[in-house]
Amino acid sequence: MELLCIQSQEHPKLPLAELKAVMECENIDAKIDVITEGLVILKEISEDDIDEYYKILTKRLGYTHEVHEIIMKSSSENLDVDIASINWSDYISETFAVRVKRFKSEIDTVATERKAGALILENCDNIKVKLREPHSLVRLVAFKNDIFIAIEKIKLNKKHFEESKPHKRPFFYPGSMSPKLARCMVNLSRATAGQLVLDPFCGTGGILIEAGLIGCKVVGSDIYWKMKNGTAINLDYYGITDYRTFNLDVRELKMYERVASVVTDPPYGISTSTGDIEGNDIFKEFFHAIYDNMRDDAYLCMASPHYVDLKPMADEVGFEIVEQYGIKMHRSLTRIISVIRKKLD
Ligand SMILES: C[S@@+](CC[C@H](N)C(=O)[O-])C[C@H]1O[C@@H](n2cnc3c(N)ncnc32)[C@H](O)[C@@H]1O
Repeated sequence: MELLCIQSQEHPKLPLAELKAVMECENIDAKIDVITEGLVILKEISEDDIDEYYKILTKRLGYTHEVHEIIMKSSSENLDVDIASINWSDYISETFAVRVKRFKSEIDTVATERKAGALILENCDNIKVKLREPHSLVRLVAFKNDIFIAIEKIKLNKKHFEESKPHKRPFFYPGSMSPKLARCMVNLSRATAGQLVLDPFCGTGGILIEAGLIGCKVVGSDIYWKMKNGTAINLDYYGITDYRTFNLDVRELKMYERVASVVTDPPYGISTSTGDIEGNDIFKEFFHAIYDNMRDDAYLCMASPHYVDLKPMADEVGFEIVEQYGIKMHRSLTRIISVIRKKLD
C-alpha cells in the first residue's frame, strides 16, 4: 500500500529530511519515492502498518501539508474509467468532495473535480457532495500525465502552526523561531514520545512546545529567570504537563538523567545577551556543557548563523555533524540547521 505526502516547497531539502528522520525514529518501513519537489510517495507499506504510519505522520510532520492513502495510479486518459472502477463505498461515507492538486500538469482543475465528483456519485449509493467540511476528501494529485487517486483519512492539524506563532502565545519575547521550523528541528533530532528532550537556551519555549505536543517529556533551561518562567507559562497554555524548567547558565547544566535529544537555538549576534560569554564562544561552551548530559545515542539539532564554523568546535568535544541545511533569512544572514551526534569509536 502507498501513502502520498504533499510537502511544503518553502525549503528545497528540509521537508524531505524531516520526513526521513521521522520514518527513521518511528521505524516506518517504506520505500521513499520523490516524484518532484513537494510530492513524495511512500511505497511497499504493509496493510497491517498503514493506519499506524498514517497517524504518526499526520501527528508529527511540520513541513508536510497533506498525507493521503493512494487508491490507484491513473492517467489523464484513463481517469474516468479508473474512477468508475473503484468501489467507493470502501472509502466514502455520507459526504465527500474532490480536490485536484497539480504538479507540472496542465489538467483543468475545476472541470476534473466536477467530472470526478459526478462519476463517484454515479458509482456509489447514499453519498452526497459537500464542498465544505465533507466526511471524506478524494484527492486527485496530478504529476505530468499521471494522476494519483487518493483519499484523505486523517486531517493534518495545520491550524496549530498558525495559532501557535510566537506573538499569539501568552508569553512573548522577540527571537523565537516559527513553530514549523521548531517542529522540524524536533523531528530531525529523532525524538519520540516519552523520551526526554532538552533545550538549554529555552527562551519562550517555542521548541519545547513542539516537542511536548508530540508526547516528549521536556526540560528547558535559560540564564534568565523571566524566560524560564515564560517557558512554563507557554507550556501550560498548550496543555503540556510533563516538563521541568531551570534557571541556569548553560555552563552549569547537570541533568538528573541523560537526555535522548537536545534541540536548541543558541543566542548569537549583538542583540542577544549571552551572559558574560564572549561572542561565538557560546557555541564552544555549549558543546562542552552538553556532551555529558546526552545519551551516547542522542541527537542534537541546533540552529546557528552561517559565519560560525561549528565543525572544529564539535570535533574538539567528540561530536560529528551528520546533516546541515541552510535557511536564508536575509541578504547577510543564513541560518544553519545542524544535526549532530556523538562520534562513535
Ligand atoms: C535565541 S533565544 C532562544 C529562543 C527560543 N527558542 C524561543 O522559542 O523563544 C536564546 C536564549 O538563550 C538564553 N541565554 C543566553 N545566554 C545563555 C547562557 N549562557 N545560558 C543559558 N541561556 C542563555 C537567552 O536568555 C535566550 O532566551
